[in-house]
Amino acid sequence: MIGEAALRALLSRMTPDEKAAQATQLYEAFFDAVLAEGAPADGGGAVFDPTGPLGDLRIRRATVAAAGSVLGSSGAARLRRLQDAYLAQSRLKIPLLFMTDVIHGLRTVFPVPLALGASFDPALVRSCARIAATEAAASGLHVTFAPMCDFCRDPRWGRITETTGESPWLNGLLAAAAVRGYQGGDLADPSSVAACMKHFAGYGAVEGGREYDETDISERSLRALHLPAFQAAVDAGAALAMPAFTLVDGVPAAASPWLLRTVLRGEMGFAGVTVSDWGAVAELIPHGVAADRGEAAEKALRAGVDVEMMSSCYANGLAPLLLADRADPAQVDEAVLRILRLKDRLGLFEDPHHGADEAREKAVVLCDAHRAASRDAAARCMVLLANDGTLPLRPALRRIAVVGPYAEAAHLLGAWACDGRDEDCVPLAEALRRRLGADRVVAAPGCAALDEALDPDGLAAVLAAVRAADAVVLAVGEHPSRTGEAASRTDPVLPAPQRALADAVLDAARAAGTPVAAVLYAGRPLVVPELDDRAGALLLAWFPGTAGGEAAADVLLGDREPEGRLPASFPESVGQIPVHHDRLPSGRPSADGFSNGYQVGYRDRSFLPRFAFGHGLSYTTFAYGAPSVDRPALWQEGEGADAAVTVSVAVANTGPRTGTTLVQLYLRDLVASVSRPLLSFRGFERVRLAPGQTRRVSFRIDEPMLRFHDDRMRFVSEPGDFHAFVGPSAARLSDPVAFALRAGRPDRAAGGAR
Ligand code: GLC
Repeated sequence: MIGEAALRALLSRMTPDEKAAQATQLYEAFFDAVLAEGAPADGGGAVFDPTGPLGDLRIRRATVAAAGSVLGSSGAARLRRLQDAYLAQSRLKIPLLFMTDVIHGLRTVFPVPLALGASFDPALVRSCARIAATEAAASGLHVTFAPMCDFCRDPRWGRITETTGESPWLNGLLAAAAVRGYQGGDLADPSSVAACMKHFAGYGAVEGGREYDETDISERSLRALHLPAFQAAVDAGAALAMPAFTLVDGVPAAASPWLLRTVLRGEMGFAGVTVSDWGAVAELIPHGVAADRGEAAEKALRAGVDVEMMSSCYANGLAPLLLADRADPAQVDEAVLRILRLKDRLGLFEDPHHGADEAREKAVVLCDAHRAASRDAAARCMVLLANDGTLPLRPALRRIAVVGPYAEAAHLLGAWACDGRDEDCVPLAEALRRRLGADRVVAAPGCAALDEALDPDGLAAVLAAVRAADAVVLAVGEHPSRTGEAASRTDPVLPAPQRALADAVLDAARAAGTPVAAVLYAGRPLVVPELDDRAGALLLAWFPGTAGGEAAADVLLGDREPEGRLPASFPESVGQIPVHHDRLPSGRPSADGFSNGYQVGYRDRSFLPRFAFGHGLSYTTFAYGAPSVDRPALWQEGEGADAAVTVSVAVANTGPRTGTTLVQLYLRDLVASVSRPLLSFRGFERVRLAPGQTRRVSFRIDEPMLRFHDDRMRFVSEPGDFHAFVGPSAARLSDPVAFALRAGRPDRAAGGAR
């Protein structure tokens, strides 16, 4: 590192336009064209006007020649060339930063983040991020726009696939693990990339699950639900933060000094670089909070946006704003200095190529070890939602029919799969053939994964395969293009052709007495009662990544048990949305979710989910004893702040084979200054037991676990009575054990969950 003094000396030599350019992030297309022509002969004043929509950015050539970062893709050779060409013409020799979306893997793609949430395993998330970083850094990248720390309870929102689910506490554990995986111990390490937590904050609360729509979030919800994962990412050292497209309390995140300076930096202690989302600074104009690009630049700078991604408000507006005394030069300097510090932490001033290395790229990208890790991760994320004994498939089966659009589909990667390629995936039927022999597996897709009508011939082939089989694997699901950004859906269900195909298959199988195991590919909770009601087994594969086909075969054949548990509730109906485990009790509580006796709920259907948070079966069965608590209260006489209550429970494997259960702890604060959730997920332990084996599992409950934002928005604990519950899911919990907190935590100013 060259150090702070050298960075400040560099800053002092920069012109206003060079500072504006350093705070600008552009697509690679701009650099490829401008740098190919060498330094701008005309002083860089001419507008660089590439064909297509990039033209209206009105980016000047001089901006490209002095830009600070590139939004692009990977490739060690190309990014080395680009860096060299850029530095060759750069006046101040400040290296470019290369950033992109390595969300769940670069070329070796892991299960989508919501599936990784189902692992309930921070160590797994960290190791997947580490592999992604290794591939990304070797391929020339310096920053990934991950982890996504958004909180969402609405499966209509396509980007729920990028979250890790509905528990703010679990989200925090997994966000911190991802940051540590990406960044390693030192950003200058050639296998590390800087992590950019996003989208700060509240994007997942878009109204109706409608992408980019308005949000209306109380400060309490913001602090209790949306901020915890970001706080955990900050505490883990996240080097960048990306403000959201959306509003917080009526103000777009990119224009909110309260959000970005008071909360993010002041309360949460973030000291890194903020980078806007794509065009979000210019979008302050359609948001109606800026009249033009100059005012957009003025407001974003005042809010604390350091880097403007893919719009030109800073590039064309900062220098004039400074001249007109409408921008604070100190704020411009602080933004640019943070960018320079990040480059210095990455070691770019000594080695502008960081980890970019063609030989290493060739050795690590999609190597066997990474592919094996992806296969392992996929099995650990898959969730067995239902099983009457149909799974695992019996080894003696003579012929298995694999039917449905995912029988031979290779699009298993899900949204934001970076450099992942469908052709790297092994379709499910092929994976089963490789294990059982081609003669024992017959595949018949029947229909596509999108909305193409069911083809009669295709259906006939499916039914023929079903009638000739000893067992059926019905492989269905949403198409990956229907998930991720700009993929909100009013109806998170299977497409009609697939529902028709499933009905026909289940009818035919029932007539023949043939067992059916449904395998569901999804990037979000889907409403699929037709599968659960009629198939003998229902395995949620998510979008399982590069090795997802092999992993699904491993699970179907029983070589791996499905270890995933739901990180997000699966609704009984679309009308229920949002449905989640940590609901508040209401003044008219309802145990069954119906409002018949004037309780909270619906008349036509229970508000309880089809599958609850934490739900997931294994291939054996478990019995949970009654939990016990080791003491009646926190603080006994003379005890220190590290005192704790211990809740413990005996768990036994009562089934025929070794298996894993996720023992879960939930808490409830019975009376407080604000209404508190019926269940707050606060602990888990994965237990693997042989048949007949028993283990006692203990959870330590200390005072910090009982804190919340009180009626004056202070982050405190209050004395009172609490219940603790344990069980294998939010819907299968023990009777409560009681304990008390005799003295609350001293008052604290309002602020983040620290
Ligand atoms: C997108 C996404 C953001 C991503 C960025 C760069 O619009 O909102 O998550 O990191 O642009 O691709």
